[in-house]
Amino acid sequence: MRSPRRRFPGFPRVLAALLLGALLPALATGASRPPQQFSHGVVVSTDSLASLAGVSILERGGNAADAAVATALALAVVHPQAGNLLGGHFSMWRGQDGHAEVIDGREVAPSGVDPSLFLDAEGHPEPRASLRSPRAIGVPGTVPALALLHARHGKLPWSTVVEPARRLAADGFFISSELAGTLRRARPILSRDPDAARIFYPHGASPSTGDRLVQKDLALTLKRLQEGGPTTFQSGEVAAQLAQDLARRGAPVTRSDLSSYRPIVRSPIVIDYRGWRVLAPPLPSAGGVAVAQALGTLRHYSITPEDRGGSRLFHLLAETLRRTFADRFRWLGDPDFIQDPLSRLLNATRLDEWSRSISLDRVTPSAELFSAGVERRKGPGRPESEETTHFSIVDHWGNAVSQTTTLNTSFGTGMIARGTGLFWNNEMDDFAIAPGLPNTYGIPGSRPNAVVAGKRPLSSMSPTIVERDGHLSLVLGSPGGSTIPSTIVEVLLNIFDLDLNIQEAVDAPRIHHQGIPDFLQYEPGALSPDVRSALERRGHRLRARSWPQGDVQVIRVESGGALSAAADPRRGGAARGY
Ligand code: DON
Repeated sequence: MRSPRRRFPGFPRVLAALLLGALLPALATGASRPPQQFSHGVVVSTDSLASLAGVSILERGGNAADAAVATALALAVVHPQAGNLLGGHFSMWRGQDGHAEVIDGREVAPSGVDPSLFLDAEGHPEPRASLRSPRAIGVPGTVPALALLHARHGKLPWSTVVEPARRLAADGFFISSELAGTLRRARPILSRDPDAARIFYPHGASPSTGDRLVQKDLALTLKRLQEGGPTTFQSGEVAAQLAQDLARRGAPVTRSDLSSYRPIVRSPIVIDYRGWRVLAPPLPSAGGVAVAQALGTLRHYSITPEDRGGSRLFHLLAETLRRTFADRFRWLGDPDFIQDPLSRLLNATRLDEWSRSISLDRVTPSAELFSAGVERRKGPGRPESEETTHFSIVDHWGNAVSQTTTLNTSFGTGMIARGTGLFWNNEMDDFAIAPGLPNTYGIPGSRPNAVVAGKRPLSSMSPTIVERDGHLSLVLGSPGGSTIPSTIVEVLLNIFDLDLNIQEAVDAPRIHHQGIPDFLQYEPGALSPDVRSALERRGHRLRARSWPQGDVQVIRVESGGALSAAADPRRGGAARGY
């Protein structure tokens, strides 16, 4: 039985901000706990039940790919705000033989749409439509991509790896304080959908921490997935339910879009950083590109433990990250639809030039870096949530999976595909729905990321793996929309340069810069008053965040082969292993 847990994001935002302010200064000086140690295998995710589902598969002789499927499906049950079967993800696999690949399960724009999808009759953008209407739905990639990971690398039968999630849905589980809080905040939106209202608010009110949640429709869907195999989502019984729901809603996604979706196997970007070999996802993950560009720039500077908490390091980080977003705005899109700019953008000489273009004394105003044409977004201007989720897995053989999965905003569109118990994503908002118009995370985009049928929208998701001396060393990732690459780079620098252990590296308060809006955002406790003044003297405009940045789950393989794991205390993540 699960005991109710206390997690501060379950509280209202203001209270969460106060608690965050109280927690982070403490974290700035020490870790919330030591890293957890395991000898055989470990799963770290945002929810202990999902981590346990993955570990139960490892203990039955499954490998990291089997456990990844089990964990991802369990997250769709116990963490429905982001875990999903009708969204998308990037999954990075690194085998014990050192072969690494990314399975791109990103959603695609439906056939039959064009760049005017989110423009009204007068040609004005309709930002709400890309978040809260049937037009917001991208063709989901999750199930086909999990099936591909399993087919390429899994060992156990498909039905075995689906079973833990099916049981969680059918038998129910006790609602965590995190989920209770999320459901309370989402009620005004979710209660508009009859299936969501019936499943999550059966008595009209929001459920409380410790209430049992049974999801009968989802249990049946998972049974169909278990017995019919993953094709049921593309051309079988579940696909028929999905197509019927899409047609009823007048969504542009068709049954043939569902059946023709294909996940893509891609090669990771590789970037060397002082002897560490960092593997990041390539386009359409703009996040992976930003991680690589930032590390490729920062390696030109000496960064030592003495830089911890100091204004020089925060300034360097902010100036580097600002540049990555300027490139994203101008050049990045689905590589199958544009000329892939990566060899040029990751060129070592160019990154060397970037490092020389950074003044240690002054900011480079974003207006000098971003080409003209960034618009202001009207309508939902700020993310309504930062609900995506990441898990990291290492198995007994040394295989690893790093996977970040999303519906985009919390519960996606908030619409359930009738009878399935599953939320539709609202990933179409990650396109530049009009030239220069920022998405819900404030990231502007241009023509390379315009809506085109069959195209994948850019993503910030950056599941990462790091090698040292040819061996697996780190597996990590985070949610957080536009803040994802900032978070990952900071955690890596904390480990690589500041010599923090992985829990200290995760706990340390974070900052973020995305060029536009031109603010350096910081978690309370990240910047001392002196450091704030020093940054302001360099020309930074500072803005304290009122909610946590990211939710990082890390595994480190120690030199003797032991496994250390660190879950992020910000949203109550949990490492489980054996
Ligand atoms: O793919 C992306 O970049 C976004 N859809 C991810 C959204 C996200 O991380 C939300 N928050 N945690």
